[in-house]
Amino acid sequence: MAAETKQSCYEGSSVSSFQFYLERSGEHEAILRCVRDVLPREFKRTGADKSSLDVLGVGSGGGQVDVQMLTMLQSTNPGVPITADIVEGSSELSDNFRALVEKTPNLEKIPFAWNIMHSGDYEKAVQAKGNMKKFDFIHMIQMIYYVDDLADTIKFYHSLLKSNGRLMIIVEGEKGGWDTLWKTYQKELCVDAITQYRSSGEVIACAKSLGLKYEELPVPNQFDITDCFDPSSQTGERLLNFMTAKDNFYESLTPEIRSGILDLLRHKCSTEKDGRVMFDSKLSCILIHA
Ligand SMILES: C[S@@+](CC[C@H](N)C(=O)[O-])C[C@H]1O[C@@H](n2cnc3c(N)ncnc32)[C@H](O)[C@@H]1O
Repeated sequence: MAAETKQSCYEGSSVSSFQFYLERSGEHEAILRCVRDVLPREFKRTGADKSSLDVLGVGSGGGQVDVQMLTMLQSTNPGVPITADIVEGSSELSDNFRALVEKTPNLEKIPFAWNIMHSGDYEKAVQAKGNMKKFDFIHMIQMIYYVDDLADTIKFYHSLLKSNGRLMIIVEGEKGGWDTLWKTYQKELCVDAITQYRSSGEVIACAKSLGLKYEELPVPNQFDITDCFDPSSQTGERLLNFMTAKDNFYESLTPEIRSGILDLLRHKCSTEKDGRVMFDSKLSCILIHA
């Protein structure tokens, strides 16, 4: 087991592990397919009759998805000034995000406010200030696992929406591979930065209990985890490390737990295609209305 409790905000080895995962999983591509499908109509509706558009990204990481969404917002609402506020706890990923903004055409027109902090600290700072900036579009992509209290977090960020605005939460899909893995091995996996695993099921239940109106859109995705079953494969080991949030899958878990996880990954979380083991990493995009 890791000697110290891990921080939820990615730095150092978590950044490289996440980067490696993104390269192997096609996750950003799947998210971008969904947002390209859904957001243009949302942005047109939100932007109608607006003299400015304000966006808040929470847990934006290196900003690869953010820059695409901001570019989309510019093109659906030409000439309307846009602001972007970012709340991201990782200084390393925020530096990557800033570098990406600099090389993305037209984003120099958007003023960015960088809040390099935990989303809970942002909430406290905003509440202490009293005068809350409101937003047309707030997004939390693959970060809701790390917030302390799901209902309080959704309630707070929902309260920052302008009328007609949308809070977009992208999270692992209920009963998908991640949900199955993390709920089955909760005792062994929910011990560091993630103490309670959440998928779209928990987010939807929470939105319902808060009486919020929402739509849910599927984000299908799968990726090849065949290498995970070859103990000599470095790729397999790195994927297993990321998927179990361990620095070292082979040293952090007992042989029984490891073989149980591998069996579950192969038989309950994946399907076989052309001799390859394809992990079901479906996501869900939940659009909560103001
Ligand atoms: C899985 S990554 C997703 C990053 C990005 N949204 C994407 O899809 O590429 C999770 C991100 O949330 C950030 N994070 C985790 N907990 C956070 C918190 N409580 N407040 C702000 N950022 C947080 C991490 O530093 C990391 O950048």
